[in-house]
Amino acid sequence: MRRHRYSETVRDLFSETVLSVDKLIMPVFVDENLTGTRPVSSMPGISRYGLDTLPGYLASLEDSGIRAAILFGIPSRKDHDGTEAYNPRGIVQKSIRAAGTLNKLVVIPDLCMCEYTDSGHCGILNGNGVSNDETLESYKKIALSYAEAGARIVAPSGMVDGQVAAIRLALDDAGYNEVMILAYSAKYASTLYSPFREAADSKPAFGDRKSYQMDPRNVREALREMELDISEGADIIMVKPALFYLDVLARARSRFDVPIAAYSVSAEYSMIMNGVNSGLLPPGSINEAIVSIFRGGADMVITYFAEWLARNQPV
Ligand code: PBG
Ligand code: ZN
Repeated sequence: MRRHRYSETVRDLFSETVLSVDKLIMPVFVDENLTGTRPVSSMPGISRYGLDTLPGYLASLEDSGIRAAILFGIPSRKDHDGTEAYNPRGIVQKSIRAAGTLNKLVVIPDLCMCEYTDSGHCGILNGNGVSNDETLESYKKIALSYAEAGARIVAPSGMVDGQVAAIRLALDDAGYNEVMILAYSAKYASTLYSPFREAADSKPAFGDRKSYQMDPRNVREALREMELDISEGADIIMVKPALFYLDVLARARSRFDVPIAAYSVSAEYSMIMNGVNSGLLPPGSINEAIVSIFRGGADMVITYFAEWLARNQPV
């Protein structure tokens, strides 16, 4: 076997996985309360952008070779029903319009309500739980407002049953049949989101998300979630988080022929970046982590390392 490893060129010829910037999606936070930028303390190297600095940042991402960004909005006003999420003049809608001038960068708005509800939950509450079907009505409004602003892909992340079908029908009825759905299909109730909740100001005010996000102990259930999303019209299905869930990804890859995304979440980023910054890990750990997600079966990876990889490594 060592014949296949004797030089870098030979190793490259035999490599089964290619890490390419074309396949990376960079998460971006836009904050309506902000002018300029503000570092996210839980995520070294990541900042929130105001609407004034966002277009320049997106243009610099495009220049670095990044092809796609997933966008999270932090609104200036939260309320019980998260109504700012579908304000046609809301922060994400404005950002999509601002990004419309870019040549190539695809901006994918995350579609959820946890940044918009005063509860921090991903939908409309009745009693102490998220009401499934009332929430679907709001998700449809959000999807339409994103499509009207010019989004070509929307990414529902709330893990509410039937969200893909509801959004697909709403988009089609309004003539947006060309708008794609990147479905957060197998999204687990993970501890690895905690840095994100600071970044996006989306921490639940009470309770947790275990009644809608998946139980980390389950994999067959994840396959059912993905199968349902495919049948409801998802263009891309997703496994999230990535590194602790590579088995789920590999099982999905062998079962489904649709495009599969993996979301390497905030704590995956912060753990590795803190390791690199402290000298505990060499920077090659970043490549190894992201390569492992592609080897596991992802067609595309959402990662906070996208910009770092584009700038620091020839990917
Ligand atoms: C909200 C949402 C979350 C993430 C993406 N969309 C967090 C959550 O469910 O609390 C997590 C991303 C990350 O940790 O990087 N629907
Ligand atoms: Zn949410």
